[in-house]
This record gives sequence, C-alpha cells and structure tokens, in this order.
Amino acid sequence: MYSVSTNNAMAFKLKLIFQLVIYLSWHHMLCTGIGERIVGGSSVTEKKYTYFVRVHYEGILWCGGSLVRNNAVVTAAHCVSDVNVKELRVHADTISLRDEGIVRQVKKVVISSLYNERTTNYDVAVLILASAIPNSSFTPIQLQKTPVAAGTKCLVIGHGNTKENGKIPTQLQEVWVPVLSRNVCQRRYAGVARITRSMLCAWESGKDSCGGDSGGPMVCNGQQAGIVSWGVECADSRYPGVYTDISSVYTFIVRTLQRYQ
Ligand code: ARG
Repeated sequence: MYSVSTNNAMAFKLKLIFQLVIYLSWHHMLCTGIGERIVGGSSVTEKKYTYFVRVHYEGILWCGGSLVRNNAVVTAAHCVSDVNVKELRVHADTISLRDEGIVRQVKKVVISSLYNERTTNYDVAVLILASAIPNSSFTPIQLQKTPVAAGTKCLVIGHGNTKENGKIPTQLQEVWVPVLSRNVCQRRYAGVARITRSMLCAWESGKDSCGGDSGGPMVCNGQQAGIVSWGVECADSRYPGVYTDISSVYTFIVRTLQRYQ
C-alpha cells in the first residue's frame, strides 16, 4: 500500500515537471520563435518582394505601398487623406527598419474621388514620387484586373504590428491568407460594417494584417489583388481582414498613371 502511494506521488511529480517543461518550451516558441509576426507570418530575409515600399510620415513608419512604376506607388487612401504631403517619404529596396533604403519624396497624392472616409469605401491612392527609383533596384507589381476567386491563397506583406497593440517588427513580415467570398465576409461583419464591392476579405485562423500594414499589397497568383485597408481587431476569430479590391479600382489607377507621367 505504502509503496504504491509513494510511486503514485512520484509519478504525479514527474508528470508535473514534464508538463512544466512542455509549457515552457511552447511559451518560448510562441513568444520568440516564428509565431509572432505580421500576425502569424514570418520574416522576409531576402529581397524578393522588391515592389514593396514603406511609407513614412514625419519620420515614422506609417503605411505600406507597392511600386507599380518607377515613380508611382499604390497605397490606401486612409494613409494619405489627412497628411502634409511634404512630410511623406517612400522607402524602397529595404526589408529592415535598420536600413532606410532608397528614399523619395512625394510630388503628388491622388486619392480616388469615390473614397469615403466614413465607410472606407474605395480606399485607394496613388503617390507620384519626386524622382524615380532606379529600375535596377526593383520590379514593379502587375495589377489584377479581374476579381480573384474565393479560396485563393494570397501573400500579404508589411511592417505592421505582430499582434493587436503589439510591437513593430524590425524585419519585413509576410503571411499567406485565403480569400473569403464577399457574402461570407458580410455575414461575419453583420451589424458592424458593410462589405462593399470595392472590398475583398481574407481570413485564416491566427493570420492577418494589422495596424501599420495598411496600404501594403496583397498579392494573388503573382499580381496585386488587394490593398491592406481595415479590420476589427487583428487575427480575431470572428473578423476577417478587409482589403481594397484592386479590380474595382483598376481603371482609377491606370488613368492616374496616364495622367501623371
Ligand atoms: N487600418 C490598419 C492600418 O492603417 C490596417 C488594419 C488591417 N487590419 C486587419 N485586421 N487586417 O494599418
């Protein structure tokens, strides 16, 4: 009897120690490992998304953007609707905040006339740079002309928070998320917001864009299909990330590029 209970106590202690070790290693992995990025993404360690740019405002990281031409950047309207254009800087050819990259001032901000600040409808803007980025240091991203199918896995990149109210990562982050149909997305946002025809949603558990990623590109099948726009919380199980649907603003972008060479 006695020996049995001793064995039990021993086994119990061992089990506790074992559980503690497992818990600590998990905790270590989640907090310092690959887990905690864009939200649920990983660090970009090579310059493979050379169309990506950071948009800084008054010296601080503000938004993301994408080079569609050597002197033109697509970003979100809400990133630049209320700013002093002189204080904007575009940083190209860099994947780390430690490296300022190729820096350009902005000559002109063109916001879609359909943009609605209250509903975030048509959240798109084009920045015309004061001087061109050398063609040898980037490849422009092609724009997706037609809507992408639900279920398509897309790449989202940015320097935004790695969790709600989290820290800004030093290294550029990437995450892959599947596109959600507009109907499903509207149901998720029922009573909260309207998902319009200029919006595209993407969602996967634990993976999302977050504050600071806005304006950055969502790339599906090698073409830009979305612009990081908004969402309720980040990586919330209920609310998908919402992106501007490039196919709905394609004409605006192309016309703007023609108008401002
Ligand atoms: N509005 C944010 C920004 O300005 C982007 C938020 C994206 N949120 C999301 N849950 N996907 O950076």
